[in-house]
Parts: sequence; C-alpha cells; structure tokens
Amino acid sequence: MTSLLLLALLSVCWADSHFNLNSTESKYFRTIYIADHGSRLGIKMDQPKVISYRGNNATLPCKFYYKKVASHASHGVQSPFKVRIKWTKLTSDYLKEIDVFVSLGNNWKSFGNYQGRVFLNEADENDASITITDLTLEDYGNYKCEIIEGLDDVTGTILLDLQGVVFPYFPRLGRYNLNFIEAQKACEDQDAIIASFHQLYEAWRGGLDWCNAGWLKDGSVQYPINKPREPCGGKNTVPGIRSYGYRDKLKNKYDVFCFTSNFTGRFYYLIYHQKLTYSEAVQACIRDGSKIAKVGQMFAAWKLLNYDRCDAGWLADGSVRYPITRPRHRCSESEAAVRFSGFPDKKHRLYGVYCFRSN
Ligand SMILES: *[C@@H]1O[C@H](CO)[C@@H](O)[C@H](O)[C@H]1NC(C)=O
Ligand SMILES: *[C@@H]1O[C@H](CO)[C@@H](O)[C@H](O)[C@H]1NC(C)=O
Ligand SMILES: *[C@@H]1O[C@H](CO)[C@@H](O)[C@H](O)[C@H]1NC(C)=O
Repeated sequence: MTSLLLLALLSVCWADSHFNLNSTESKYFRTIYIADHGSRLGIKMDQPKVISYRGNNATLPCKFYYKKVASHASHGVQSPFKVRIKWTKLTSDYLKEIDVFVSLGNNWKSFGNYQGRVFLNEADENDASITITDLTLEDYGNYKCEIIEGLDDVTGTILLDLQGVVFPYFPRLGRYNLNFIEAQKACEDQDAIIASFHQLYEAWRGGLDWCNAGWLKDGSVQYPINKPREPCGGKNTVPGIRSYGYRDKLKNKYDVFCFTSNFTGRFYYLIYHQKLTYSEAVQACIRDGSKIAKVGQMFAAWKLLNYDRCDAGWLADGSVRYPITRPRHRCSESEAAVRFSGFPDKKHRLYGVYCFRSN
C-alpha cells in the first residue's frame, strides 16, 4: 500500500518537474516535497459572497497562484502542466457536492441544470472564475472552486447570494400541515424556493417577525422574532431566531419559509367591472393574456418593486391578499406588509384579482 503510494508520488514528482534525479536524490526529493513544501498551489477568493438576482448573470471569482517552492525556484521551473479547474455546489447540509463545471486545458464541461449556463472567464492564465448566466432560485448557495494539479489540490468557497424576499407560508389546508417534502413543493408552487437559514437570518435582521415555526432548506424548523412576547418563546427573551432543531422530514408538520427573487414579467391588479369568485378570477387573468398571480410574485413585487395596492385580490393558491408599501388609514395602518385576508370560500364574489404576465 505504502510503496504503491510512494511510487505514485514519485512518478508525479518526475512528471511535474522534469528533474533529472538519480534514485537517491529522488528519494530525498519526494520526502521533502510532501513533508516540507505541501501544496505549491495557492488559491485566492477575493470576496466571501457575490450578490445577484434571478434572471441575471453572476461571476464567482477564483484565482490561483504558484507558491515559491525552493526546489522549483532554484531550477526556474514553471509548471508545464495544465491545471484542472473544478466547481461544485455544496448542499445546504454540506454533506454533498453537486457538479457544476470542470475544465482541463481547452476542454470543459458543465453539468445538470448548469449545462450551457457556465463559462470560464479566463481573464488571465491564473483565473478560474466562472460566470453563471440566467440565474435561477436554485442557484443560490455555496460554491467550491477547486484547483488540481497533479497531487496538489486547493479549494476555496464563495456564497452566491440572491436579492429577494423571505415570506412565511401555509396552504389552504391550514397551519402546521406540511411535512418537509410538501413544504418544498408549496414554495415551488408559489414561484419560490424553500428558504435557507442564511436567508431567514437576513430577513430577521431586516425586521421579519413571525410567530409560527416553518421548515428551512436544511431540514430545521425555526421562526424569527424581533418583538419578544409570551406566546413566541417568552416576553423576557432576546430577539432572535427560535429553533426547534432538525425535525423528521416525513412525520413532522409545520409551515414553511419561502424565498423568491426578481421576476421577469409584469405583476398587476386587474381592473374589472365587478368583484369575482375564484374561478372567475382565474378566467379573467387568462382572458387578459396572463395567469392568476402566485403568492411569491406578490411578495417580490411588494418588496423589490415597491408595489402598493389597497385592493384585496385572489391569488393562485386561493388566498386573498394585498400589498402595502405606504401604510395609511384602512390600508395596513401600522406597517408596510403583504396583508393576508385568509382563504375565503372560493364561491364568494367579494374580491378582485392579481395577475402575472411573464415576458
Ligand atoms: C546520485 O546522487 C548522489 C548525490 O548527488 C551522488 O553522490 C551519487 O553518486 C549519484 N549516483 C548515481 C548513480 O549517479
Ligand atoms: C448574461 O450573459 C449572456 C452571455 O454572455 C448574455 O447574452 C446576456 O445578455 C447576459 N445577461 C445579462 C442580464 O446581463
Ligand atoms: C431586482 O430587485 C432589486 C431590489 O432588490 C432592484 O433594485 C432591481 O432593480 C431589480 N432588478 C430587476 C432587473 O428587476
């Protein structure tokens, strides 16, 4: 086992450096190489995160360099070998890596949902930065840049963050009715994705206060409290994110925190001559060349485009809501918020409708 490994190391040292060593020297060299010099490659990630938004392009910077290693410097040897550049995405529990992109010399390949969307920047020969185009909500997360040359292997990570909005969600079924799988699906149905802890944390810092526990992407169940009070973990507690820890993804049922980002399309309140039942609302949007809007689209319009409208309207999930950015009398007097009027009887002809037309 050991001798096999040494043999492998030896052959790499030979190939790597083109030294003309006799066996005594090479034995010596190989020991030094591992024990004293470690990796002769270094990596430089200029920033811990990059912020973009859905539909945009984002560049993830990553540079590598050669450390000055005595044995190489003295011989003036520059690497004649190509490095392999490998980008992977870490899952939210950090247990797995998803292949994103690899390149070796002029050959490169992107994987899965990244196919055709990832390009190497190649600003110079030490540039391993990539650009991901047409960002999706799923692209959010931590990425790992790995540079491999022979046995040298260096890595750095960077967060691809998206501008957007976190919103608590429960479906028509009622409170605390979603297991983890259903929670993921519920967000997707509303043009959103289940939020990460980092996204919930940022929303909490931005003032989000919600006293119902919801699933997060990592399988934990938590809720954000800015105004401590008795039913929400106690009145004399500090503000913070309260956690129920990791729960059984199939058996336990909670609400969910969803995240959505900019959309490309138009969100609007349909001007109509009368109030509508739910099915009339669905049809009215279709006749207008659109679709009834989803909850995530209302939150995105409210948060990212300052959309304000004091008319309660149907949304796709059968809920009735209205977005207020300028609090005023009879329109969410106390705070800017997406107001929720519940899941009324779908036959009630009492509300308007919000539509969405994608570009
Ligand atoms: C190998 O190198 C050592 C140290 O430089 C030298 O003393 C020895 O004579 C060399 N042996 C051969 C076979 O070249
Ligand atoms: C993203 O990059 C692609 C390819 O370079 C380009 O065609 C597109 O216009 C870019 N999109 C944005 C939003 O900049
Ligand atoms: C995306 O949302 C941000 C707010 O977070 C806004 O400033 C920006 O104009 C939006 N971009 C597009 C292309 O809609």
